[in-house]
Amino acid sequence: MLAELHQIAKEYDHPVLNGISLTIRRGDSIAIIGPSGAGKSTLLNILGTLDRPSSGQVVLNGEAVELLDDNQLADRRNHFIGFVFQLHYLLPQLTLLENILLPLLPEKDKPTIKAAEARALRLIDRVGLNNRINRLPGELSVGECQRAAVVRALINQPGLLLADEPTGSLDEENATTLGILLAELNREEEMGMVLVTHSMELAKRMKVIYRLHLGRLEKMEEA
Ligand SMILES: Nc1ncnc2c1ncn2[C@@H]1O[C@H](COP(=O)(O)OP(=O)(O)O)[C@@H](O)[C@H]1O
Ligand SMILES: [Mg+2]
Repeated sequence: MLAELHQIAKEYDHPVLNGISLTIRRGDSIAIIGPSGAGKSTLLNILGTLDRPSSGQVVLNGEAVELLDDNQLADRRNHFIGFVFQLHYLLPQLTLLENILLPLLPEKDKPTIKAAEARALRLIDRVGLNNRINRLPGELSVGECQRAAVVRALINQPGLLLADEPTGSLDEENATTLGILLAELNREEEMGMVLVTHSMELAKRMKVIYRLHLGRLEKMEEA
């Protein structure tokens, strides 16, 4: 089991999540849909340890997240989880390749770094950016930047890839390209993928779709 959510609840000044349980295994691809304000980002951030639940338990790779200290959490985030957000957050002063290799900065082991660099070049080629590696983000299209952000998220071979509205800043054509790519990478890289979106077209590319409604997940049946 890659990740488990047990009866997650979260309230701010009002209840947002209301008893959510979910299990994620290698190879799973899960879309969570729902309107703006439904709590999709809150749920994804709790799963990614960026936020803590008001009650309930998050288990990542067999470890209860609530028992980890800040250093351990940072380590799990770096090695076990890849994040893709609506905005790519590439650093403007670094080339595409340097941006993609950024998560390796804390790594000291030379063979690990070498292997990751080879992996970076393979993935860059895989997403069609091999003739762009020395460009700065400002010289790339938004679609290209988002594909680079996906490669960066995968560079440490995460067990879990979490994506929050990954196509939210893209035009229709680039959104379609990215959706197809995410579904293919889920099969090829065998991670568990959870993406939240309000795009049904994107959601349908995942194997399972849940709707977040009144703080609970409802599984959507195939049409
Ligand atoms: N840090 C926060 N402090 C207070 N309220 C928040 C915070 N983050 C989210 N919320 C509230 O939680 C609800 C769900 O937000 P969010 O998870 O961002 O929804 P979605 O991603 O589905 O649009 C909203 O009512 C939002 O205002
Ligand atoms: Mg959101």
